[in-house]
Parts: sequence; structure tokens; C-alpha cells
Amino acid sequence: MVTVVQLATQVGSLTLRNPVLAASGTFGYGLELVDFCPPEALGGVVTKGLSPRPRAGNPTPRIVETPAGMINSIGLQNIGVEAFCTQVLPALRQRGATVVVNVFGETEEEYATVVERLEREDGVAAYELNVSCPNVGKGGMEFGHDPSSLDLLVRMLRRLTRRPLWVKLSPNAPHLLAVAEAALAAGADALTLVNTFRALAIDAKKRRPAVATGFGGLSGPAIKPLALRLVWEVHRAFPQAPLVGIGGVLTGEDAVEFLLAGACAVQVGTATFRNPAACLEVVQQLQAFCQREGVEDVRELIGGLRWR
Ligand SMILES: Cc1cc2nc3c(=O)[nH]c(=O)nc-3n(C[C@H](O)[C@H](O)[C@H](O)COP(=O)(O)O)c2cc1C
Repeated sequence: MVTVVQLATQVGSLTLRNPVLAASGTFGYGLELVDFCPPEALGGVVTKGLSPRPRAGNPTPRIVETPAGMINSIGLQNIGVEAFCTQVLPALRQRGATVVVNVFGETEEEYATVVERLEREDGVAAYELNVSCPNVGKGGMEFGHDPSSLDLLVRMLRRLTRRPLWVKLSPNAPHLLAVAEAALAAGADALTLVNTFRALAIDAKKRRPAVATGFGGLSGPAIKPLALRLVWEVHRAFPQAPLVGIGGVLTGEDAVEFLLAGACAVQVGTATFRNPAACLEVVQQLQAFCQREGVEDVRELIGGLRWR
């Protein structure tokens, strides 16, 4: 008999039709890959990070392939929140996609401007605050590395919205648990773990860094074991906190590993560069895994790692 698998999951108060979301920065604004991966078939899509005004991003080259991953230094190029609201969001809404908007600012006020603009729109399921981008001079990581700055930022945004606030944390933070605690105490509904790892690739012939900014952010399968450790550590420290796991997910089984480590949902990033249907295939493979293993409800897996 074939097991009927219940794939829906909860991230705090938000119900997702399945636990697989497309990760910020790797799936455009949600519509670019519809022929390969309709956004409404996923648990959700997380948009490219939006700022109050359009940003051109960093100089090129800004992407380099590495063993089992890539280093990027895009620098948060984006169309700005206004263009997103008028040109993209209506189509995502019409398709019935669950839209998580990734928000970025150089200052607290800039984060607030983006959230305030989006509050005037229907069809935003949650905000994901990028406080962890390693590739920009101002903002981002400054908040994600310092518990007291993050506390102020999350408290301020909490007053502006009743929608779920997810805080995307940096694996580069010297005290990740302190930052996680600050975000939760300030009213975050969930934590997304993790953004990219600060890294360096060198072009040996030119004797220069391979990306123009020098350092960039490492993603892809290379970081999966590191990301799993961080998810598990944060889950153990804050077992009630909804976590969204991310880092190197390529297959359904990778997604299962993040769920076992304590994530309620996962995001798929770099895999989409190799295969534009990757997110959809992860959903299918996750379902097949559950069928094979007799898991009737995917939520049974969450935090199910047998540590000893
Ligand atoms: C090209 C590129 C652009 C990204 N842009 C963003 C972004 O705008 N905001 C953000 O929070 N994370 C961004 N990320 C980080 C990813 O969402 C994700 O956290 C990271 O790549 C790890 O997941 P992965 O190994 O599945 O790619 C970006 C990653 C890549 C590779």
C-alpha cells in the first residue's frame, strides 16, 4: 500500500503547503523560472533582497564556481520595493504563490521603509530580514553580528507589522546563539539559518581574488554539514523556536536532514543554478522518501535526529 504523505508544515503561525522554499537571491523575484518551477507548487518563494531604492550591486566579476559550491558577491542588486510591488507581486498573488519578502537595508530606517511599503499590499506571507549578507559595506551583517543592534531592529519592525518576521542569521556571527536569542526575544517569529559563509577564491595566474570585492559568500553542498550543525545547535538551545534550514540542499534527502536537525522548512538556493527545476524536484524527492520510509506526516521528521 502506498503511504499518503501529508507534506504541509508550519513555520510558527504560517502554514506552508510543503516544506520547500526557493532561497533568496537564487530564484529572482519568483516568476523568472515559472516554466521549470511554478512558485505556487513550492512551500514558498523568498524574493531577492529588496531595498527602498533600486541597487546596482557590486562590480563584476561577482560569481565564481568552487569545489561543491560557489562564491558570490552580488551586493544586493535589486529592483527596489516599489517596482516589486507594482510589477511583480500582482502576478505572484494571482498564481497563489506563498511569498516571503527578503528585506535589506543599510540602516534601520531603510528596513522600515521596505516593510511599510509592503504593508500596503496583500499577498505577502512573511518578511525575511537579511541581517547576514557578507557582501555589502553597510547594513546587513552589522545587525546580524551584534545582539543589541539586532534587538533594536527587530523590535522596531515588530511594531510595524503583524505579519511573521523571519530573521536570517549569519554563520559568520561570532556568537550565533546570542544573536538568535536576541532576535527571538525581540519578537522574531522564526530564524532562517544560514546565509553564506565569508570566503576567498584566488585566481592564481592573476594573483588576485576571483571576485572583484575580494571576499564573497560561499554556498552550495560545500556548506551543508556546517549549516546542519548550526541548525542543530540553535534547535537544541531554543527547541520551541521555528527554524528554516538552508545551506547546500540539492536533494529530498538533504531536506530531510535539515528537518531532522530541527528545521520546520528548508530553502533551496545554489542548486537552482545547476538545475532550474531543483526546488520542485526536492519536493518530489522528499515525498518519495517519506513514502519509502512510511512517514505519513512530514512534521514527524522535525527535530527527530537521534543524537545518541
Ligand atoms: C547569487 C546569490 C545571491 C544571494 N542573494 C541573497 C539575498 O539577496 N538575500 C539573502 O538573504 N540571501 C541571499 N543569498 C543567500 C542564499 O539565500 C542562501 O542563504 C545561501 O546561498 C545558502 O544556501 P544554498 O547553499 O542552498 O545556496 C544569495 C545567494 C546566492 C548564491
